[in-house]
Amino acid sequence: MRIALIGYGNVGRALARLLERQRAAHPFQIVGIHTARHGTAYDPGSIAVQPRFGPPAASVDEFLDRAKSEIVVEITTLNPATGEPALSHIRAAFARGRHVVTANKGPIAHAYASLRDRAAEAHVHFRFESTVMDGVPIFNSVRNNLPGVKVLGFTGALNSTSKVVIGAMRDGQSMQDGVEAARRLGITEADSTYDIDGWDSAAKAAALANVLMDARVTPLDVDRRGIGRLTPERVLELTKSRKTVCLVSRARTTPSGIRLRVRAEVIDDTDVLASGEGTSNVLLLHTDLMGTIGIMGISSTVDQTAYGVFSDLVDIAGALNN
Ligand SMILES: NC(=O)c1ccc[n+]([C@@H]2O[C@H](COP(=O)([O-])OP(=O)(O)OC[C@H]3O[C@@H](n4cnc5c(N)ncnc54)[C@H](OP(=O)(O)O)[C@@H]3O)[C@@H](O)[C@H]2O)c1
Repeated sequence: MRIALIGYGNVGRALARLLERQRAAHPFQIVGIHTARHGTAYDPGSIAVQPRFGPPAASVDEFLDRAKSEIVVEITTLNPATGEPALSHIRAAFARGRHVVTANKGPIAHAYASLRDRAAEAHVHFRFESTVMDGVPIFNSVRNNLPGVKVLGFTGALNSTSKVVIGAMRDGQSMQDGVEAARRLGITEADSTYDIDGWDSAAKAAALANVLMDARVTPLDVDRRGIGRLTPERVLELTKSRKTVCLVSRARTTPSGIRLRVRAEVIDDTDVLASGEGTSNVLLLHTDLMGTIGIMGISSTVDQTAYGVFSDLVDIAGALNN
């Protein structure tokens, strides 16, 4: 099955490496890669992990028309305020009858319902497992394993960069040291203030609410405050009383609608939201029939993000072969 990638940064390279390793069992071919500054690559056979980029396609439309793939993988930079340009990229793919997989939470956080409907009209598959908690199956688990269950709300420690930053502060380092450590892991957004100011957490909250609760919100509807004012002194003081800070995304159903909030909350060291070192994430889904369900990813890396994209590709290939 042929794939075209829009974006080839940390996630794109990790995905290419994974596809290379899995080729015997899952023969996907990358036939086109389009980037913002590095140019565009085409090969109807299969592009190597280290592509030779040529001049950039004049537009994503031109790229999609030339890279004749069945599936488009959208993995460009997050814009939490608008979801663009990823939203337009996905619509352009649907307009050409292409299936789409994305790890970019912007489109899901801004326009999930309309994209889902557009995909259905075009009779194509649309998957986005890696948009929240990398490859840990959240959306697929709810879709496949929880029939009849209604998600009433959720509580999540969903942003890995803030967790790494707070961990660095617990070790006496500065916020900037923590951001650099997260950047070396390839997990920060291109603009790391999106992680620190809670935009990434707000986009994930909006994406979860849109998909699991049919909320029809955007990140701008999330009552958001990040960890920007946190100091190492404050973190060390809390450590002495066995407490820590966690950037928490919450959703709850109220009589006046779904309320979403992102806050740097002070929690006990033993709180489930504080579990796991480094890049670990936790999501608690509050449901009607199943009470609260906990999902955890321990020490995820960009390889797990790539796995989430890969699992979506395999899922689509399986559906098409049936
Ligand atoms: N990294 C993670 O751990 C992780 C985890 C979950 C989800 N995600 C999401 O996955 C996506 C990709 O993350 P990443 O870490 O791979 O980002 P990245 O390293 O910053 O790479 C972004 C890629 O997108 C390309 N790009 C940006 N704007 C473009 C445009 N208008 N047209 C075509 N290409 C464009 C860039 O081109 P150039 O190479 O030319 O600059 C680059 O190749 C983001 O939406 C992020 O939120 C990432």
